[in-house]
Amino acid sequence: MIDIHSHILPFADDGASGWEDALAMARDAHEDGIQTVIATPHHANGQYLNPADNIMDGVAKMNEKLCLEGIPLTVLPGQEIRVYANLLDDLERGVLLPLASSRYMLLEMPSSRVPSRMEELCHELIIQGYVPVIAHPERNAEIAAHPERLERLVGLGAVGQLTAQSLTGEFGGKLQKLSLELCRRNTIHVLASDAHNGDSRPFGLYRAYQMIDKQLGGEIAGYFRKNAQNIVSNIPIEQRIVESSGKKRHNFFGLFRKKD
Ligand SMILES: [Fe+2]
Repeated sequence: MIDIHSHILPFADDGASGWEDALAMARDAHEDGIQTVIATPHHANGQYLNPADNIMDGVAKMNEKLCLEGIPLTVLPGQEIRVYANLLDDLERGVLLPLASSRYMLLEMPSSRVPSRMEELCHELIIQGYVPVIAHPERNAEIAAHPERLERLVGLGAVGQLTAQSLTGEFGGKLQKLSLELCRRNTIHVLASDAHNGDSRPFGLYRAYQMIDKQLGGEIAGYFRKNAQNIVSNIPIEQRIVESSGKKRHNFFGLFRKKD
């Protein structure tokens, strides 16, 4: 499996606290059946700043250590970018890092609301050739109350990333139900762990795929797996028809926009 969202990189944020911890997480990931994991430290969330260069250095060191320890896991660079005022300027300055050097960018909204200029931001990123990946939309209070807010972002060409633990019930039954609902509406495209440690926020991706398989069928589970691979391979994700309150709405983003 491929995991596109994790806090495995040490000394970066509230994820792995040091190399020992990071290597323990790497062993957990391998045991869970993960071969490739994208390290996505928090950036600009008010607590942590992890510019692109630091992450690239950290990921190179991490892969050296994995090699030395004989852990069969590849870590790729990424960043969980909080939606903030200077995001587009920082993107131009090279401070921001897409997922695995692709055109996909992992964006984190505040948990309480959808920022007022979120649609404009997604639109601008798409024009520039990027694909916004909305990190765990199910954990956003405004989307929970109004799933159509996510549908609008997906309609623009954004991708929804569901967190494994939301789906498997660790964050409560309400969030689990919402997670399945967002999947059924076709506003989720990819599953990821958002792992922070081995205890309270583990990988748990295998169980999450099992749940998708059981609740929504093998075809959807396969679609999610393929999309994680497409992100790493930097190829377009096939968007499905968004199911909105019984009505169907087509998305037209099957292809990347041309960059430059
Ligand atoms: Fe995260």
